[in-house]
Amino acid sequence: MHDKNASPAPALFTWEFAADPYPAYAWLREHAPVHRTALPSGVEAWLVTRYADARQALADQRLSKNPGHHSESAHGKGKVGIPGERSANLMTHLLNIDPPDHTRLRRLVSKAFTPRRVAEFAPRVQELTDQLIDDFCAKGEADLIHDFAFPLPIYAICDLLGVPPEDQDDFRDWAGMMIRHGGGPRGGVARAVKKMRTYLAELIHRKRENPGEDLISGLIRASDHGEHLTENEAAAMAFILLFAGFETTVNLIGNGTYALLRNPGQRERLQRALAEGDEGLLATGVEELLRYDGPVEMATWRFATQDLTLGGQRIAEGDPVLVVLAAADRDPERFTEPDTLDLARSDNQHLGYGHGIHYCLGAPLARLEGQTALATLLRRLPDLRLAADPEELRWRGGLIMRGLRTLPVEFTAC
Ligand code: HEM
Repeated sequence: MHDKNASPAPALFTWEFAADPYPAYAWLREHAPVHRTALPSGVEAWLVTRYADARQALADQRLSKNPGHHSESAHGKGKVGIPGERSANLMTHLLNIDPPDHTRLRRLVSKAFTPRRVAEFAPRVQELTDQLIDDFCAKGEADLIHDFAFPLPIYAICDLLGVPPEDQDDFRDWAGMMIRHGGGPRGGVARAVKKMRTYLAELIHRKRENPGEDLISGLIRASDHGEHLTENEAAAMAFILLFAGFETTVNLIGNGTYALLRNPGQRERLQRALAEGDEGLLATGVEELLRYDGPVEMATWRFATQDLTLGGQRIAEGDPVLVVLAAADRDPERFTEPDTLDLARSDNQHLGYGHGIHYCLGAPLARLEGQTALATLLRRLPDLRLAADPEELRWRGGLIMRGLRTLPVEFTAC
């Protein structure tokens, strides 16, 4: 399938690639749409970059989420998944399992984590957003990742789960450890995961004795045909909600704000719409930001359970497959002018939240947080501008996620 007459394959996983992977993805889509490559960890995997193939792969039941299907037992080598997860016994979470277990757990969690619960949470997200802006707005400058995009999702998900306010700064520290070392040294991350796991197990125990209206109490209460989550399953579920809902949302706010600052015409249009009380462009705009430079660069690992053909390429049983959402969402076969940010884009069935049975469970919360964060920033800091040369901005080098390390900004102090 590799096109022998094409220009040489671009280098992947370099610093330049991290800053702007899109030219390399354009090359892969055109010349090697299902491409076997060595990842920085040394593990070889197939990268799927065309929209049609990506969508098909995400829903293909022959691609398992269970790392046990990887012939080299990648988990055993600590190469994939959440660092420290195995020892911490958090394996039984949604992103690591297939039907029928996945179906059962997803049904149970969906009973507690409902769109209604998220909608009722909207005033609290607005309050958290305003508090964080209050904390830095008198300075006239900020690092929007450290001061805003990072704390907002962690406090939001802690509140939603029912972590008491006095313990939330511990979560902020553990989450900081996880995000700083994502894809890097693992010792600290494993320790942070372990602490979180111990804390969550205790919290679940307390909530069982003394339930409230929070999501953890909801997870404990949820039942389906007489079935409940075990304490371990509830802990793993709370953990995956934190883990899946944290860095992703940091990146939505970070990448989204950055894209707006780099596209002043689009940003002005959104600011005008918001000033006129029109929230329609905010909703389509956040979807477009997810498509244009979304938080999840590649969907989480999948493993072939049998020999199969994808996009004309044979994939052997046991091979790891990475679906590159960022590449699929810029595919010109699917999107008109894919490299242009168009906040009003209609027909925008992007894959930023995945597709199929693992479609993002937290999408309603992510939308709420993303829309609230961006709208409030633009309303309260109307002359927000970048305070760094874009060339000097650094992107975190993880495989799955795509996000900025820092986003220095200036604005008229308020
Ligand atoms: C799954 C993206 C926020 C919880 C996924 C998947 C993607 C995704 C692409 C599928 C991964 C795969 O198939 O390998 C995002 C993005 C977010 C976001 C872009 C923010 C903008 C959240 C939030 C939560 C959450 C806030 C919860 C609080 C989950 C869970 C799954 C998931 C539990 C696993 C679902 C399953 O396997 O059935 N997300 N996510 N996500 N997401 Fe999100």
